[in-house]
Amino acid sequence: MTGFTPANGRLMVDGLGLDDIAAEFGTPLYVYSGAAIAAAFTRFQQAVSGADSHVHFALKANSNMAVLRLLARLGAGADIVSGGEMARALAAGIAPEKIIFSGVGKTDGEITAALEAGLGQINAESAAEVDTVLRLAEQTGLSTRLALRVNPDVDAKTHAKIATGKSDTKFGISMEDCPALYRRISDSDAVEAGGLAVHIGSQIMTLEPFENAWVNLLELVETLRDDGMNVPALDLGGGVGVDYATGETADITAFGALVTRMFGNRKLRLGFEPGRFITAEAGVLLTRVIATKTAPSKDFIVVDGAMNDLIRPTLYEAYHRIEPVIDSTAEPAATQHSGRPADVVGPVCETGDYLGLDRHLPAMTPGDLLAVRSAGAYGAVMRSSYNTRPPAAEVLVLDGKAHLVSRRQTVEELIALDVIPDDLK
Ligand code: LLP
Repeated sequence: MTGFTPANGRLMVDGLGLDDIAAEFGTPLYVYSGAAIAAAFTRFQQAVSGADSHVHFALKANSNMAVLRLLARLGAGADIVSGGEMARALAAGIAPEKIIFSGVGKTDGEITAALEAGLGQINAESAAEVDTVLRLAEQTGLSTRLALRVNPDVDAKTHAKIATGKSDTKFGISMEDCPALYRRISDSDAVEAGGLAVHIGSQIMTLEPFENAWVNLLELVETLRDDGMNVPALDLGGGVGVDYATGETADITAFGALVTRMFGNRKLRLGFEPGRFITAEAGVLLTRVIATKTAPSKDFIVVDGAMNDLIRPTLYEAYHRIEPVIDSTAEPAATQHSGRPADVVGPVCETGDYLGLDRHLPAMTPGDLLAVRSAGAYGAVMRSSYNTRPPAAEVLVLDGKAHLVSRRQTVEELIALDVIPDDLK
């Protein structure tokens, strides 16, 4: 059994007790199942295999070097959005040819570095960016495939902060502007025309938004091809969602069937950029109870993990399941009590610092362990040291062994980044 499963009242990961892992590495702690990451990657890859598909893991979801190394070994390419992510992907051993550089604001320095590294594809998000890539490719004599990220003006029906496909977001180039820009790319000797890219948003649970976007995209492909331009590939982005209430993913088989139906017979190489689908369910945030308390209208479980470790609950009102690592059948105790639901909150000095609201949990006592589920994507990557709290460390379980894959920074290291000017000494 891979991933996170209970056995004899104890939450396990790939055969290891999460309580033992917490005892060894401390809390708050992200724990990933290598087997679950590999299984999700393979499931995605197989689902889209009815077309000429290539899977580029979106580093923004989880860019831990050990996780990337694992995915690189499975043959994953990478979708990156910064020079920093490029350095990670390359250092993890992902071939430059398999790396796609997306993102709405690439600097000259980042584009030059991408050309020098020989990245397979750059997705331009504006007319200005097309100009910049062409200029830098001419100056350096280094080529790449240059694609246009299209804004297909579709509603992804997801949280407003992670929807990117409507024309009023900062992402992509309008359908109307694409033909003239693609002509500029096609006419240039400095780069190869790389086709079109689209990413309409994240955490998408139904097929309809994808289908709407892809219909628009295919129309554009026809227009460009009718005008004699070469459109070799489509980058269809990421966005396949996960139901955080159950841990089930969106129906990837149906997604794959749609891919086959719409693209199976076309002369198009396809790229996919899944992030959440690959790692969300493969990770938990382990946190220990510091105290419980009661207010007139509420109960609270105060834990050592906080919004600086996992910001999704407060930033997106995201729901993450929270489960005791050791399942106690004890009655609710006298403080937390009355059977009232409790908020699971961190120590950060903000009312918005919570991991879960109104949860029904068994009685908790200080030292008890909780697992915040579905935390393997957009968890550790978004952590910070707010309140000068060294953020959670990360552990990856591989073949029944737990490995520390990012260590906890010390307070001294955090402070050492600051510089006191001589005048203040
Ligand atoms: N490709 C591009 C161009 C993207 O912008 C994104 C995500 C992805 C791929 C991967 O999307 P996924 O398959 O993971 O849905 N921090 C937010 C999610 C932000 C997603 C941003 N872009 C969260 O915690 O829900």
